Amino acid sequence: KFFTLCVIAAILNPCHLVKPVSATRVTGRYLTHQSGLPCLPVPPLQQTCDRYITALEPIMEVDELKHTRELMEEFQKPGGVGERLQKGLEKRASNTKNWVINYFISFVFLAKSGMPRLPSPWTLPPYLGGKPLCMNQYYEVLSSCRIPGLKRDTVVNHAKSSPPPKHITVVHNFQFFVLDVYNSNGSPLTADQLCVQLNRIYSSSLQTNIEPVGILTTLHRDSWGKAHISLIKDQTNKESVLAIQRSIFTLCLDGAMPQVSDATHHSCAAIQMLHGGGSQWNSGNRWFDKTLQFIVGEDGMCGANYEHAPAEGPPIVALIDHVVEYTRKPETAQSPKVPLPMPQKLHFNITPEIKKDIEEAKHSMNKLAQDLDMRVMVFSHFGKNLPKAHKISPDAFIQMALQLAYYRMYQRCCSTYESASLRMFRLGRTDTIRSASSASAAFVKAFDDHSRQNTEKVDLMGKAIKAHKSYTNMAISGQAIDRHLLGLKMQAVEDKISVPDIFKDSAYNKALHYHLSTSQVPSKTDCVMCFGPVVPNGYGVCYNPMNDHINFAVSSFNGCKETNGALLAQALEDALLDMRTLLEQTPRAKL
Ligand code: COA
Repeated sequence: KFFTLCVIAAILNPCHLVKPVSATRVTGRYLTHQSGLPCLPVPPLQQTCDRYITALEPIMEVDELKHTRELMEEFQKPGGVGERLQKGLEKRASNTKNWVINYFISFVFLAKSGMPRLPSPWTLPPYLGGKPLCMNQYYEVLSSCRIPGLKRDTVVNHAKSSPPPKHITVVHNFQFFVLDVYNSNGSPLTADQLCVQLNRIYSSSLQTNIEPVGILTTLHRDSWGKAHISLIKDQTNKESVLAIQRSIFTLCLDGAMPQVSDATHHSCAAIQMLHGGGSQWNSGNRWFDKTLQFIVGEDGMCGANYEHAPAEGPPIVALIDHVVEYTRKPETAQSPKVPLPMPQKLHFNITPEIKKDIEEAKHSMNKLAQDLDMRVMVFSHFGKNLPKAHKISPDAFIQMALQLAYYRMYQRCCSTYESASLRMFRLGRTDTIRSASSASAAFVKAFDDHSRQNTEKVDLMGKAIKAHKSYTNMAISGQAIDRHLLGLKMQAVEDKISVPDIFKDSAYNKALHYHLSTSQVPSKTDCVMCFGPVVPNGYGVCYNPMNDHINFAVSSFNGCKETNGALLAQALEDALLDMRTLLEQTPRAKL
């Protein structure tokens, strides 16, 4: 109960927000640099073409690469299609704040094709490496919601409406309530007031035979697009859905989860946050389209779930850090004596058609839930202090351990995605760090080769780490290849010309088939974020390097015979330990 109250109070009392939560009233201190942020550059065409070939080298056969080289040469020849598309992108860049952002959000998050993405968990950190960051994502998190569409989803942000919403939605036993969180004088409810209101919600939602309308948001987006239309045909339903969409955030008061052993406790908690465990547990106690949902379980387990389209992980984790910090401060505000109105229950009229959609959603959600394997591993032998002591970037060290772990399991390197922040640029989101490089391939191939000396292995490790760091620097400064290639492809679609052959090439599919989809989401709080794999035969790996340990969440699909999350987690632990041993046995190596 304590955490629940603190979540609400912390968000209503962040240091930079004037109540009520309004994007237009965010104070200027954190936005000093916003208008001076540079625009994302369009990288030179030839640079991207060359770097694309280099990135393919560790994951392609030599003869396959020959064909791709020929296609790339044709694409970039003077007066060719590449040049034309590049000019189109440069024109777009001169007319927009960020030339890739709409392509990125539409294609990566809101597109209807491809794998359905599983929903994934303020003092503000406005700098990265001493450079100011774009703060726009912070405006997109509260009072916003994804809306299903027949052709394409959209995101609506009610924080920008006037007046902005003053309520949150609370869901308990699949029943939704509107809870106004401001007093009539504009002050946020105190913890005592919130406690009274949450108790009222709790005791008026003890019935358990309620249709879980929220589970509709787990449907495949095409099916949800259609079901949404039939749901909101009814005026009561339409108003209830709008109240959820408009709310500042949703608070999910969860029922029980299955009893598990201590060893699987963290993984079970991750599953509760990610998808609720299936229709018999808490998957219906959500509105997954909502950008931000805080979740508090009966047993005190707490966390959050967020919808990825409006923001990346770091702003969400910054919010979590703020909440946790807030819980440490005593509350000073006095509760006004005025009695509060009863929180309003949201009603849904369930027609036979909607009931059928709910049943379909339960079925497909349960299949998804059963198929997803989630392993949370606390690697407790060391944290980021160890690589730092060896003058190595912890992120590069962890990524190379992942490369080694994967190679040991499969005897090959794979296309690997790591998110890199583009927030040094206005409206910047992410680009891809391609962690598999020729240098990483040379390192992992040599590591278990007994004919190689440790000095040579350490030298190869150093080169692999350097290559990773250099790709990272290139990516965060807007010179990576993936958003540029996406832009060139989308420019062809916009120009209504045939999509160039380089995008129909099997190499391009291979490059985008991320067997390892990874992301570092660091936080002050000892927590971990998690997400599912992005391809059926791949892994999702999210990690939070703390000083003396590293939290990992490794996901894979049970239905895939090729993958095994437990084995990858074990291989990762072994790789980290073996890399430490190598470093310690070769202390004078310069990395
Ligand atoms: N020697 C000693 N220390 C070093 C070092 C070296 N050679 N290289 C780095 N370090 C230190 C850093 O100074 C930093 O110190 P801190 O703990 O005091 O902050 C720490 O090690 C971590 O640095 P590093 O591991 O290199 O990572 P990073 O913080 O630069 O992050 C990315 C790298 C790619 C993760 C980051 O740039 C990024 O883009 N993050 C956003 C990712 C994202 O958006 N994810 C979510 C998508 S949903």
